[in-house]
Amino acid sequence: MPTSGTVVDRGLEGVVVGSTELSNVEGREGRLTYRGYDIHDLAPHASFEEVVYLLLFGQLPNKHQLDDLKARMGANRMLAQPLLDWMELVPKTAWPMDVLRTAVSGLALYTPFQPADGWHPSNPRTAIMLIAKTPIIVAAWDRIRRGLEPIEPRVDLSTAGNFLYMRSGEVPIKEAEHALDTYLVLLADHSYNASTFSARVTASTRADMFAAATAALATLEGDLHGGAPGKVMAMLQEIGKPERAEQYVRDLLARGEKIMGMGHREYKVRDPRAQHLEEMAKELGEASDPKWYELARALEDAARKVLQEAKPGKPIYANVEFYTAPTLYSLGIPADEFTCMFSCGRMAGWTAHIIEQLSDNRLIRPQATYTGPAVMPFTPIEERGRNNGSSSNGVPKASPARP
Ligand code: COA
Repeated sequence: MPTSGTVVDRGLEGVVVGSTELSNVEGREGRLTYRGYDIHDLAPHASFEEVVYLLLFGQLPNKHQLDDLKARMGANRMLAQPLLDWMELVPKTAWPMDVLRTAVSGLALYTPFQPADGWHPSNPRTAIMLIAKTPIIVAAWDRIRRGLEPIEPRVDLSTAGNFLYMRSGEVPIKEAEHALDTYLVLLADHSYNASTFSARVTASTRADMFAAATAALATLEGDLHGGAPGKVMAMLQEIGKPERAEQYVRDLLARGEKIMGMGHREYKVRDPRAQHLEEMAKELGEASDPKWYELARALEDAARKVLQEAKPGKPIYANVEFYTAPTLYSLGIPADEFTCMFSCGRMAGWTAHIIEQLSDNRLIRPQATYTGPAVMPFTPIEERGRNNGSSSNGVPKASPARP
């Protein structure tokens, strides 16, 4: 008999699987709020650390609370020496997300409050540690893979300022620090996106925060989620000249491929974060090399035009990843680290969601409709023929469809 229950759309589209106080995505209006605060107010006015406080503690901090959080984040910036030693042994060609995911998991091994039963408390203290150390891992690996010594973090700089300092050894100009800070604010949370859902599923089994954060990182890396901006950058590099954008898009769609950085499951209008990222890409480009912003602008226009023709009635607009590419690239961050940068911002949301999940936890365990064969009589191995269930090339035949 088929499993009973309501069959939902593939990909859980439109299915409400839980509740959250942390952020709200209103896809038709194109509005994103963190605990009620509009991203359009937070992006220009609040720092990443203020948003971390808001997500973890439920309100915007006053000056004293913010200073205290900054001090705690600064104090959590050192990495255990064995983790740095391990990074030195990793092949220099390793993908930064592989290194980050493994290192975040490895943080559990060197956490001073390691309890006897192996389960680390999933509380704001662990969250602050993970949020503080994630960019440190990214910056350290960036140096190590270039054959350079990692630079000691500074406690007096912001998360964004310290990250840029640890890459180059120079305190960044305030425009660069502000741009990266705004990027981290924009990426900090986004309701039940795939990686956050993954974190909540993992936490719901009462696995600890390190395990749930590692699961989130693993889920983020695919290009239907956080893996897209590196591919946006590759498209911009391939296009090379704005006038080539339209033909490039037409060729891509003719090959049945998707345009990275375009489209969103929830937003039926342009992603509200894209506006801020576009402004930053433009400003950073004007101060260094305007090419990447101009290419991105041409690609978005071409993609909108061609997609409107190819898929009339389907709203496909730029998402957060699109202008992430020229923004981060203009900050000197290489394309293969873009997903790591997403992780630095989203670690705030992931850890806040894990805490929220555990505050009223019930195991997340959905059902599936079974589509395999009906109950079969068991055949002992000695009675299974030579070509048992196989095609001529030895590959098992597909199971017969269930009647
Ligand atoms: N390029 C071309 N076509 C796209 C597209 C894109 N970027 N995004 C969606 N579409 C089309 C699909 O081909 C599909 O067309 P069809 O119904 O004719 O088959 C339709 O729009 C619905 O797409 P689907 O992939 O089912 O939507 P979704 O809600 O599952 O997907 C994304 C949302 C983000 C996965 C999707 O838009 C996408 O793959 N975008 C590119 C990758 C990306 O930017 N990822 C980062 C997301 S923040």
